Amino acid sequence: MNRGFDETWIEQLKSKNDIVTVMSRYLTLTQKGKNFWTCCPFHNERTPSMSINPLEQYYHCFGCKEHGDVITFIEKIESCDFMTAIEILAKNANMEIPAFKGDQNLQKRKKQKEVIMNILAESARHYEANLYDPSAKKAQEYVKSRKFTRTSLNEFHIGYSKNWTDIVTFLKTKGFSYEDMLASGVVEYKDKYFDAFGERLIFPIYNIMDECVGFSARSIVPTDYAKYKNSSNNLVFDKSKTMFGINFLKKLKQQHNLDYIIIVEGQMDVVALHQAGYKNCVACLGTALTPYHAKQLKYLCENVIVSLDGDSAGQNATVKTIDTLVEGGLNVKAIKIPDKMDPDEYIKANGKEAYQKLLDNAMDHVVFKIYHKLEQYDLNKIDQKAKFVSTAINIVNELNTNSEKQLYLDVIKNLTNIPIEILKRDLVSSVKQDSVEEKSHIEYFEDAQLKAVKFVLASLCFKKEYANFNFDLRKYLKNPSYIKLYDILLSYHQSNKAFLISNLFDNFDVENDVAIKELIDYNFEEIQNPSQYYEECIWKIREEYLKDKIKQYTKQIDTQADNTQRLEILKKINEIQKKLKNKNLED
Ligand code: UTP
Ligand code: MN
Repeated sequence: MNRGFDETWIEQLKSKNDIVTVMSRYLTLTQKGKNFWTCCPFHNERTPSMSINPLEQYYHCFGCKEHGDVITFIEKIESCDFMTAIEILAKNANMEIPAFKGDQNLQKRKKQKEVIMNILAESARHYEANLYDPSAKKAQEYVKSRKFTRTSLNEFHIGYSKNWTDIVTFLKTKGFSYEDMLASGVVEYKDKYFDAFGERLIFPIYNIMDECVGFSARSIVPTDYAKYKNSSNNLVFDKSKTMFGINFLKKLKQQHNLDYIIIVEGQMDVVALHQAGYKNCVACLGTALTPYHAKQLKYLCENVIVSLDGDSAGQNATVKTIDTLVEGGLNVKAIKIPDKMDPDEYIKANGKEAYQKLLDNAMDHVVFKIYHKLEQYDLNKIDQKAKFVSTAINIVNELNTNSEKQLYLDVIKNLTNIPIEILKRDLVSSVKQDSVEEKSHIEYFEDAQLKAVKFVLASLCFKKEYANFNFDLRKYLKNPSYIKLYDILLSYHQSNKAFLISNLFDNFDVENDVAIKELIDYNFEEIQNPSQYYEECIWKIREEYLKDKIKQYTKQIDTQADNTQRLEILKKINEIQKKLKNKNLED
């Protein structure tokens, strides 16, 4: 079983989705020898370092070490989960997805998910059509007052809910049950069924696959509360994983047109930026940016500029957003929009060029945090200046390398006029304070036996001509992943089936299994005479095992009082020593 699927079915799915054919739909591949090459889509590069192996049906990037099979590729390039990747590939191959064997519930949820997606798609279309109805005069005026262009109305499929019951009637005539309407979040119930977004302007929210997963709906009359009402979390909508505008990012990426991503607070900002020519922007829906958001963005592009509202709430949120993004491994810059404005207001007041200037001068994330702190202190007062310096030094100390730290000390020096030598001393003493919590650095030497095991297993995986199953490796293995792998390799060997590296992705969570990942990345080029080295490794594994046995017996002798028993053990030790001398591979 493979995550709920039958293994042979997954194998069939993979065999009908040749990795070269699938990948060439997204990338330009060039053949060199047996393999194909392309610029890696998962990191920025100009010369190809991703190789695609058609025989083994896997890809590997020598630059960023991303690798996987055709399923992993779809998960990564579409930024989707395993299930969605399976759906895409099954559709490609015209294959029916089989019923889940394990979980009846899962099957049911899948069905309901489909129904909900249908309801959302139908509702989005219906709301959009409403906006152009003569009865929607109020909404049309509102849209005009907010300066939406016709293009962006179409692009975002902006719609209108004309009253509190229309959508219910519409969905009913489409044949949906009240139960499913409620599950979709479009309809709510209190005494009667009503539109959750009644009389509001509708922003459909699309996922990265361009499917509508929910709505954010703005009141078109002034309100003090609930200016926006968003879909609540349900089977298909999770606001901690959704970002408004993400569907456009994917298109830009496919056109190789995504150099950086702008993160804004609201969907109005996304629309305004689109109208100003920036399609590379996203907004979280009234929530903080989560590590999941960061991960999803990283697949699309590593460079981000945080451009939240210029008010103090927005600026504080910027610091948190920066931390989450940096934690997620992105290159982060941030801007502060003057006069407490948001990007929408700023562009309308000052024009696109002014906003572009802000982007051009975007601050590096550390500098942004230092300046953000600076605003809280009055450097003309000596005690406040001292506090600022120590907070700023703490920000700098969060950085990983000394060279980075030096760089930012200069910023503090320029702000405070405190000589760099003194700041450096402060930096060191602030490190000392933290170091109690710091983990001790244990040096790690890989032991010779493990190194040998890795080479032998990697050679078996890659079907090297010198690798064979004559030596029964199993009892020498300790890592459960290696044991499982060996059993799989052996079963392929015994049933005369060719093992492919891509099979590893069916059996292991490769991303999180360092032991297996290391084997896939194995660098055979470092090995001078591999077939001789293979024999040496086999013996190394055996030798260490025998030596270890001797150690154990020696310990037993020390604690054994009975003389005949001691002699028995000594005999055993002797036998092992003979085996060591004769390089005997069998017990
Ligand atoms: P803002 O209040 O900054 O929105 O909230 P905005 O983009 O400037 O909206 P306009 O210009 O007044 O139309 C930012 C985001 O927070 C969420 C929405 O997703 C909004 O886009 N929000 C805001 C809510 O969910 N509910 C609210 O009541 C307000
Ligand atoms: Mn606004």
